Amino acid sequence: MKTPEIVTSIAGLRAHVADWRKARRRVALVPTMGALHEGHIALTGTTRTRTTKTIVSIFVNPAQFAPHEDFDRYPRNLDADAAKLAGHVDLIFAPSVAEMYPDGFATRIEVGGPSLGLETDFRPHFFSGVAAAVTKLLIAAMPNAAIFGEKDYQQLLVIRRLNADLGLPIEIVGAPLVREPDGLAMSSRNAYLKPREREIAASMNMVLKDVIERVRERGHIGVGEHHGKNALLRAGFDSVDYVAIRDARTLETVADLSRPARILAAAKVGGTRLIDNMAIQPSP
Ligand code: PAJ
Repeated sequence: MKTPEIVTSIAGLRAHVADWRKARRRVALVPTMGALHEGHIALTGTTRTRTTKTIVSIFVNPAQFAPHEDFDRYPRNLDADAAKLAGHVDLIFAPSVAEMYPDGFATRIEVGGPSLGLETDFRPHFFSGVAAAVTKLLIAAMPNAAIFGEKDYQQLLVIRRLNADLGLPIEIVGAPLVREPDGLAMSSRNAYLKPREREIAASMNMVLKDVIERVRERGHIGVGEHHGKNALLRAGFDSVDYVAIRDARTLETVADLSRPARILAAAKVGGTRLIDNMAIQPSP
């Protein structure tokens, strides 16, 4: 199958979208940082119809990495990514850093609400970096729909907020988290894991399920979260940033499971930071 065309300029991207609009096609955008896996590919199928044109953007966004983080070693392989996308998408947008952040770039986008706490407590730069890149991508492509994975649940809520606040005429679509057969959430960063770390990583989803069960049976959110942190450390994680049960819509703290909630976690094994989350249906 033919690999999709790659454009690197915003002007080139807009020219394609303009042609599709003339042909009355719907346009969907899937923003990524590349190093694509099945979780990313699943996103491209979310809104796929015969009349939808799908764009994947591939941009390792420097603004969302702190200086001590893995920007330099983040896996990059555009040819392999393009081959994986063959038959799934119509266009790849792979801009350079200079195309996305031209000399003198000085605009910041700060989203409050769902960005407060959790990831922000440990990566304070993160959501403003994501917001800068995603806003620019959304405005450049102006798709009918943009698709984001529930793997990054807080990010999805932040982008929904940003999109609503800026009044962009774009439907933000959330897609389910895709897991490996042993339950590990697929992630480009899993490529960093050594075999022993990979085994430890697989315990995260089991710990989260266990915490949900405990809280359902015994009712105490704080005790369940504390148990989850200890269980991750016992399983071999080197440090735990958070295990938290929050309101599924706002990410505010909750006192019980009477409304839809979400358990979210972030922990490090070796030098690799992993995140995961799951839905918690309300208790009857
Ligand atoms: P990246 O980590 O490459 O993820 C791109 C998209 O794929 C995100 O919406 C993410 O939630 C989704 N995704 C990743 N792993 C997934 C999995 N296992 N199941 C379902 N979806 C998954 O997230 C980013 O890039 C960046 O922050 C970005 C939004 C592109 C802005 O730079």
